[in-house]
Amino acid sequence: MAKQQQAIQAIRGMRDILPDQSPYWQWLEQNARQVLGSYGYQEIRLPIVEKTELFKRSIGEVTDIVEKEMYTFDDRNGDSLTLRPEGTAGCLRACLEHGLLHNQTHRLWYYGPMFRHERPQKGRYRQFYQLGVETYGMPGPDVDAEMILLTDRLWKKLGIRDKVELQLNSLGTSAERAAYREVLVEYFKQHVDVLDEDSLRRLETNPLRILDSKNPDMQFMLRDAPVLLEHLGEESLQHFNSLKSMLDELGISYQLNTRLVRGLDYYGKTVFEWVTDELGAQGTICAGGRYDGLIEQLGGKANHAIGFAMGMERILALVEQLDTVTLEPSVDVYLIRVGAAAETAGLLLSEQLRDQIDGLKLQVNCGGGSFKSQFKKADKSGAAFAIIIGDDEAQRGEAALKSLRIEQEQTTLSHAALLETLKTWHHNKSLA
Ligand code: HAM
Repeated sequence: MAKQQQAIQAIRGMRDILPDQSPYWQWLEQNARQVLGSYGYQEIRLPIVEKTELFKRSIGEVTDIVEKEMYTFDDRNGDSLTLRPEGTAGCLRACLEHGLLHNQTHRLWYYGPMFRHERPQKGRYRQFYQLGVETYGMPGPDVDAEMILLTDRLWKKLGIRDKVELQLNSLGTSAERAAYREVLVEYFKQHVDVLDEDSLRRLETNPLRILDSKNPDMQFMLRDAPVLLEHLGEESLQHFNSLKSMLDELGISYQLNTRLVRGLDYYGKTVFEWVTDELGAQGTICAGGRYDGLIEQLGGKANHAIGFAMGMERILALVEQLDTVTLEPSVDVYLIRVGAAAETAGLLLSEQLRDQIDGLKLQVNCGGGSFKSQFKKADKSGAAFAIIIGDDEAQRGEAALKSLRIEQEQTTLSHAALLETLKTWHHNKSLA
């Protein structure tokens, strides 16, 4: 006898989204699409694999993502390719490649899986889904404010607005950051005894990231560290102050977080994160900022850009916790067939109903079974009605209709009467 093979499992940190979960995903995706549409954003679909060089040049050589988290491999031609760890670089690459940025403004969004070889934990996966938004050609801060308004609207629509807080900072220009970096390194060198191993390494490569450290032993020292906002020039300050006054006037509250530096190198000026304290360590559900400098860095003409991306798993975890979503059942009507004559008659009737009632979700019981077992399945499907066809009904061109959710006598109807009844029900349901 052949030895039973061991079952193959999914890769660590890469999750299956099972049928009982996918309606929540669809619900989130639909809401996001609708909100993005209401601000005039257009979808762009991008490859999942890009040249490794693209991410090195944009995200930065000395970031965690590029240093240790990318899924990078040589393809059969020997080219180094990488599964995208984020979407900003690919989106900009596509826009430059197709000449979309010449004297134009764009508001774009993309959606799909991203890949980072991080240590998996709740809310942190190796394949995760982002919905990202990028805009080009607008110097702001009006569009910076619009991004925040858009996300604020989405949180309200999802029922999570009072669970999230907006954190805001400005990273100034690259010249301002370079000058600040020197002051900061000087400060850290005076406290080198408190720096952990990671921070000592970053002191040479990316000292601003030390500000982001969650190490409790370093918090006291970090509290007194020099603040980047105090080293910004006039123009950067004005941009930031205008954004803050717009948000004040629009009634959007925010927390100034002077230590918010972001883990990707391309940002300058506005950066923001939406955070929640309901999800443990992985509490950032959405993050982004301005990255004007990246366009030139990727070979384009100087231009303006700002965007953000939200982590779908984290948003869904938050929504799930609140238990506020009621989803529609995936089936409206379940069709039961009992007897040889009912087999094809039932299929025929189901096709006629689908022809006549656009959008009706009708599931036919396939694979046989007694009336009782089919009826159980009908009930479990969540359908509002069962249609029952036995050989008698099949011969007479009739069908029985039974309401599964409200107390009502089962009725036997002609196909025409059945069609009318279901049509009216479906119409009323779509109005509700
Ligand atoms: P990010 O901060 O690296 O930014 O990721 C954005 C969001 O993706 C995070 O706030 C989080 O919700 C989600 N996320 C990131 N890593 C994981 C993970 N391993 N598991 C689950 N969720 C995760 C970016 O990616 C930028 N491209 C955002 C952006 C767009 N900036 C400008 N435009």
